[in-house]
Amino acid sequence: MSFLRFILITLKLAHGRTIGAFVASVNTLVVSTLALSTLTFSALAISTLAIIPSSFAADTAGTVLITGANRGIGLALAKQFHQSGYDVIATARKPAKAVDLKALGVRIEQLDVTDSSSVNALAKRLDGKAVDILINNAGIFGHNTNTFSDLDIDQLDTVYNVNSLGPLRVTQALLPNLIKSKQKRVANISSMMGSMELNTWGCCIGYRGSKAALNSFNKTLSMEFGKQGLVFVVLHPGYVQTDINKGKGDITASESASGLFDVISKLDSEDNGKFYDFNGKSMPW
Ligand SMILES: NC(=O)c1ccc[n+]([C@@H]2O[C@H](COP(=O)([O-])OP(=O)(O)OC[C@H]3O[C@@H](n4cnc5c(N)ncnc54)[C@H](OP(=O)(O)O)[C@@H]3O)[C@@H](O)[C@H]2O)c1
Repeated sequence: MSFLRFILITLKLAHGRTIGAFVASVNTLVVSTLALSTLTFSALAISTLAIIPSSFAADTAGTVLITGANRGIGLALAKQFHQSGYDVIATARKPAKAVDLKALGVRIEQLDVTDSSSVNALAKRLDGKAVDILINNAGIFGHNTNTFSDLDIDQLDTVYNVNSLGPLRVTQALLPNLIKSKQKRVANISSMMGSMELNTWGCCIGYRGSKAALNSFNKTLSMEFGKQGLVFVVLHPGYVQTDINKGKGDITASESASGLFDVISKLDSEDNGKFYDFNGKSMPW
């Protein structure tokens, strides 16, 4: 017999009903404390849920994947979608160096759009995950010369590989993720430079051709996958102050991203295959 039990029995014998009443009051106290604790815990849990940011809550506005998101328009898009309650998967060629992107607190994934093994590795990491919106933003200006005679045609491979084939690679690899999603949108960041009708001053043969090819790919995919509810668009982001044009431009990256966000977040099946600018204005082919 434990020492405590011995004391209790001795007390009970000595005081009869008094000790019984004491034990009953202790029991009541314990039960009341437990009930109070449960109530307090529930209230705490409810108030904690209320202050969790929307990006952590189960129902976000959707999942968006943005390529080339470590700087320029891609970074501004990542910021805009993150602030608007989307789960953002932002890709960078060198995530360790993506300082501004890390500061946003979004998911960062390595991706070089010219490297099939990098693209396939990303698709593997995202296996089974729905991607509502894919924004193929990564792009370069590439080789350019003042005269056609000076052009080194062999150097144009890179601009086509990044700007035209890159979006194709990424879209193909992430097709299962898009099909699994509710929104099923693909926004290819093209350029007015890819428009034949707007080519009124020449120049930039590789860049123009690579964006025109992207416009053509977009149209073809819109035909094949429109039946499955996917929406493919090409978008001109404006003339934007980023590294690609050495900071020249009419608007900032965040102004461009804000307009692009409005266009992309409202896309529906009627927009499939279309070409818009960042204000939602139709662009000539
Ligand atoms: N700025 C404009 O006025 C303008 C106008 C029309 C269209 N656009 C288009 O808008 C898009 C974004 O351009 P931006 O102005 O933001 O230019 P930017 O500031 O130069 O950014 C380009 C982005 O693309 C990434 N990138 C380049 N090659 C890549 C590759 N092989 N794989 C993955 N990512 C790669 C870069 O990553 P790194 O840092 O690793 O190089 C960077 O994140 C481009 O498609 C561009 O053609 C821009």
